[in-house]
Amino acid sequence: MAKVHVFDHPLIQHKLTHIRDINTGTKEFRELVDEVATLMAYEITRDLPLQEVEVETPVQTAKSNVLAGKKIGIVPILRAGIGMVEGILNLIPAAKVGHIGLFRDPETLQPHEYFVKLPSDVSEREFIVVDPMLATGGTAVEAVNSLKKRGATNIKFMCLIAAPEGVKVFTDAHPDVDVFIAAMDEKLNDHGYIVPGLGDAGDRLFGTK
Ligand code: URA
Repeated sequence: MAKVHVFDHPLIQHKLTHIRDINTGTKEFRELVDEVATLMAYEITRDLPLQEVEVETPVQTAKSNVLAGKKIGIVPILRAGIGMVEGILNLIPAAKVGHIGLFRDPETLQPHEYFVKLPSDVSEREFIVVDPMLATGGTAVEAVNSLKKRGATNIKFMCLIAAPEGVKVFTDAHPDVDVFIAAMDEKLNDHGYIVPGLGDAGDRLFGTK
């Protein structure tokens, strides 16, 4: 069964409060999302495997650890997921970045892919799929379906705010994908927005309405 990790780190919680604030403008919102994504990436990479190497210090030779060549892929779900990419790359600069774009069919309300571009070695990478909001869960489920269909087997999902309904839909569909959240909110409203949430993440990141 998927593990759901809610980060209670004080810095993450503090910054998230300012992200939620209606009075936070686009520039500051973007900077804060970037910073929280960096802090979350620090936590999410805790289990990366290490290998021991020898290093020559100014004093003597020492045995020390480096990352064991794990290949990471970051996959933002368009468009709001893009706001979290730079923050993760701050810590994992060698990661490759794929993109998945989905739209909701106005009749069936089902999400459909309109854009998928991934690193070529999908089956060898550990992927972090990012979207600031896990609301109904439909888009996140479809994005991970899309990755799995192309050979990905090692996937994590990371978002800022989740609704319990979305977490259930997602973890039922992908019990092998752990979920990393900065805050679990109360519920979805009738328009599919997370309550209390932060509004429309894409609009707030990109200054659109
Ligand atoms: N997408 C958003 O941007 N905000 C929500 O509250 C739900 C989905």
